[in-house]
Amino acid sequence: MNPHGNYINNTFDLNQVGDIPLARITTHKIRLMKEKGKKIVMLTAYDAPTANILSECGVDMILVGDSVGNSLLGYESTIPVTLEDVIHHCAAVSRAKPNSFIVGDMPFMSYKVSTEQALENCGKMLQKGGAEAVKIEGGTARVVEIVKSVVDAGIPVMGHIGLTPQSIYELGGYRVQGRTKETTESLVSQAVALEKAGAFSIVIELVPSLTAKMVTESIDIPTIGIGAGPHCDGQVLVIWDMLGLFEEFNPKFLKKYANIRQVIKDAVNEYSKEVRNGEFPDPKHSFEMSEEESGRLYGRNKPNEK
Ligand code: KIV
Repeated sequence: MNPHGNYINNTFDLNQVGDIPLARITTHKIRLMKEKGKKIVMLTAYDAPTANILSECGVDMILVGDSVGNSLLGYESTIPVTLEDVIHHCAAVSRAKPNSFIVGDMPFMSYKVSTEQALENCGKMLQKGGAEAVKIEGGTARVVEIVKSVVDAGIPVMGHIGLTPQSIYELGGYRVQGRTKETTESLVSQAVALEKAGAFSIVIELVPSLTAKMVTESIDIPTIGIGAGPHCDGQVLVIWDMLGLFEEFNPKFLKKYANIRQVIKDAVNEYSKEVRNGEFPDPKHSFEMSEEESGRLYGRNKPNEK
């Protein structure tokens, strides 16, 4: 037994601290998972019922990503997403009271203007959005400085390096990063700097597997990969991408675990057919009036309900 968890029959149980079961995931547990070699599962969610399902499935972390822009709000990138958008969706997720740890994504220009702006807006993500940590994109000296201030203020920060979608115009599009020795070394330096600044974990997006491996082995905090191969300490995907909502979105890194688009279409087509041919609603889905009241209402002219 150690202060952070229980060893039962030599297995490490992260959900038990002494006699107290601790279902809720914390930054502390996330760090321990890397130490114990337990892979971390993260998915995005933007609403209460989805958060509830992810929690029931034992997903470790829920990211309320600015990917809400492309996934649900009809934008072509994450750039138009506002702080208020993410807070709105994060609050819905937190109302589901998931056991999963909730990370609120800081959108474009909501933290890079100044340290004061970052502190104020990250604070709002926790106070109004119910997030337990924020995610901040970038690994430049300027961003590292901001991360340090936010962590100093008591707000856990998840870093995000590699492809950072808020910088697509600067990066020249959604392109794989860290393909060379120099760019890989640069990503390692960014990760080390973010760890030193106090980040509790780092998302690595769209880099070769060996780049992610080198970054992961260079730091003690967990890396969470997306399009970064199998060597990261955990993985994240956008929920509606992995459920197969979008027929046309098929990047190499994405595995679709369901065809939710087809499931929705089948149900909507069946409903439409039944409404059009009068099959729905049937008596089972309709309400009845008592004999007495229908007699009072219609007298002898009571219609056949069937
Ligand atoms: O916004 C998001 O969903 C993300 C993930 C892709 C990591 O940043």
